[in-house]
Amino acid sequence: MSDFLALAQSGVQQLSPYVPGKPVDELARELNLDPASIVKLASNENPLGASPKVREAIANELAELTRYPDGNGFELKARLAERCRVQANQVTLGNGSNDILELVARAYLAPGLNAVFSEHAFAVYPIVTQAVGAQARVVAAKEWGHDLPAMLAAIDANTRIVFVANPNNPTGTWFNAQALQAFLRDVPSDVLVVLDEAYIEYATGGDLPDGLDYLAEFPNLLVSRTFSKAYGLAALRVGYALSSPVIADVLNRVRQPFNVNSLALAAACAALTDSDYLAKSRELNEFGMQQLENGCRELGLGWIPSKGNFLCIDLGRVAAPVFQGLLQEGVIVRPVANYGMPQHLRVTIGLPTENARFLEALSKVLARA
Ligand SMILES: Cc1ncc(COP(=O)(O)O)c(C=O)c1O
Repeated sequence: MSDFLALAQSGVQQLSPYVPGKPVDELARELNLDPASIVKLASNENPLGASPKVREAIANELAELTRYPDGNGFELKARLAERCRVQANQVTLGNGSNDILELVARAYLAPGLNAVFSEHAFAVYPIVTQAVGAQARVVAAKEWGHDLPAMLAAIDANTRIVFVANPNNPTGTWFNAQALQAFLRDVPSDVLVVLDEAYIEYATGGDLPDGLDYLAEFPNLLVSRTFSKAYGLAALRVGYALSSPVIADVLNRVRQPFNVNSLALAAACAALTDSDYLAKSRELNEFGMQQLENGCRELGLGWIPSKGNFLCIDLGRVAAPVFQGLLQEGVIVRPVANYGMPQHLRVTIGLPTENARFLEALSKVLARA
């Protein structure tokens, strides 16, 4: 029999599949628990539940399920263009922003070429890079965050993409406007900078830059964003990129004809009108972040300061047994050993009651261990 693993492209052979957060139903089955009693803080999802405006938009769309969606996403692109102060031909829609990352890699990477990204950066960057046979150039992190000068130094003649996440997942680290500007100024103009802003809506104020402010000046910049986090549409899979029209045209050539479904398109349009939901998401996140930080302080634990909707907690010991102990308590968080962080656990900010459940369970598990 032929070895179809050995026959796979060599970059693919070396990949491990993406590991998602453990689903609630899976844990409920394994431990014979009531799913309603389980708290899942493992996938940086929005704890608010879907916005009523979004539910209504989806309900209105259901009658058209036999039709293909608008493959050009005209309405959503128009609304995003207005919101983001760009032209509609600068917007690319994706089946989640994950799709955008894949499109970029498919369009610009190939065997013999490479992408530069940081240690402890989002797990999808190596996947999309190696999946097309390109080389991943991983740059050591600095204080858990991106070391932008070292990333610049890692760029060579074969580099086509640099992936930077601001804030980064799973660390929550960020860089300021000055650092971004210096980086963009020094990256060669033929290297595409993919600035992944999946969590930008949480990171209002302070010193976190808005990537859109740099699009006009740097034609090699692409900003990717998502409706999965602060807008609460993770299940529907819708994200987008803002770039020069030329890059948008290139991505449009490689995408699936109907990569964003009609319910997602309608939901995203509605979500953009629901500023109350976004404000509530932010408010809840700020409150929960304080709650988790205070809880960690009381437990004598460290953490990595975060601008996302999650916090990486430093347990000061191997985290795997604590993760298992939390599962026994019906609390699912995210181990990050696969990100090179075996002593941390990443916890998504939940509702205040969920955060309290987590802290209580953590205290119990740590006391036992
Ligand atoms: C940094 C970062 N980028 C992109 C994504 C992809 O999200 P989605 O495909 O749901 O838009 C995630 C999801 O967790 C993320 O953490």
